[in-house]
Amino acid sequence: GRAMAVFTSGGDSSGMNSAVRSVVRMGLYLGCKVYFIYEGYQGMIDGNEYIKEADWNAVSDIIQRGGTIIGSARCKDFTDRSGRLKACKNLVDRDITNLVCIGGDGSLTGANLFRQEWPELIQELVNQGKITPEKANKCPNIQIAGLVGSIDNDFCGTDMTIGTDTALQRIMEAVDAVVSTAQSHQRAFVIEVMGRHCGYLALVAALASEADFCFIPEWPPPTNWREILCEKLAHSRSMGQRLNIVIVAEGAIDREGHKISSDMVRDVVANNLGYDTRTTVLGHVQRGGNPSAFDRLLGCRMGAEATIALMEMTPESEPCVISIDGNQIVRVPLMECVFRTKAVQKAMDELDWELAVKLRGRSFQRNLD
Ligand code: F6P
Repeated sequence: GRAMAVFTSGGDSSGMNSAVRSVVRMGLYLGCKVYFIYEGYQGMIDGNEYIKEADWNAVSDIIQRGGTIIGSARCKDFTDRSGRLKACKNLVDRDITNLVCIGGDGSLTGANLFRQEWPELIQELVNQGKITPEKANKCPNIQIAGLVGSIDNDFCGTDMTIGTDTALQRIMEAVDAVVSTAQSHQRAFVIEVMGRHCGYLALVAALASEADFCFIPEWPPPTNWREILCEKLAHSRSMGQRLNIVIVAEGAIDREGHKISSDMVRDVVANNLGYDTRTTVLGHVQRGGNPSAFDRLLGCRMGAEATIALMEMTPESEPCVISIDGNQIVRVPLMECVFRTKAVQKAMDELDWELAVKLRGRSFQRNLD
């Protein structure tokens, strides 16, 4: 059978373990030799004990665990060609020509670059006498299938990324807890949620918690947002509401592209309305904990499809991303998704909000509407 490897890269997310499990078991079922690569790209570069064969039982009892049991890293060495050369050697030594990369857009972009360079890297290893020409012929290229693991739901081309639903669940539990204390003291709370440059978590959390206001990077508030915010909060209070909840995405900006921080929002509310106002930054609580049923199933379905996709690929096949599109698991060209994801950031940098929202895609747009 063919040899394949699975690794997780970038920020961890709940449901990655389910995806790893599914890749391993589908791989074994199809007769492949399956390897774990520990600690993301760093393990691929370091080789040795970081690349280990996986068996059926190695992935027992992990479907319910948060994070990733094979470790993850944001790896600088892989951005250098010398790092990628070492990684290539470590894979070729084990005849690994199929990779499942579970990570965010940075990790998947790195995988694509690796594949483009692969023939050159192989040639260089032959020239340096580090591998034999026969070995090189066995590994003419590397096939890649990507799975998007990220709590941010910031990747274009899939309706949901693995881990977003669980993070949302964590956020809801936290907001509900804050609400109960806020209402007792008639306080206002500004709650900051993760998402780097993406407002999905903030937007959906605000809808699901009936927050009074929400700040996200893709749709910044009008320039007079301070007045609008205060009017809205005061109106809720005048209708008998005892508390206020404002959700701020960590990447929130104004229409000029300047950061809107949760402390700024708190000061606006406290200074203009005189409410006792507190800030709660949820932080990494959002990334931890057991995956929701949705993320377990998403990991399972995507992992299985990634493995099947790899087995159907030829050395000429372009890398693909496994995505969920209207509840169907489909394959999409990796680079198309990466370009679109980068285009969102460019649109935001150029203050073109309509375009940013359009590019974010259906699941984002519908919630914003
Ligand atoms: O991409 C996931 C994420 O949790 C973002 O929401 C956040 O901006 C970032 O990772 C935090 O990264 P780190 O855990 O490396 O500080």
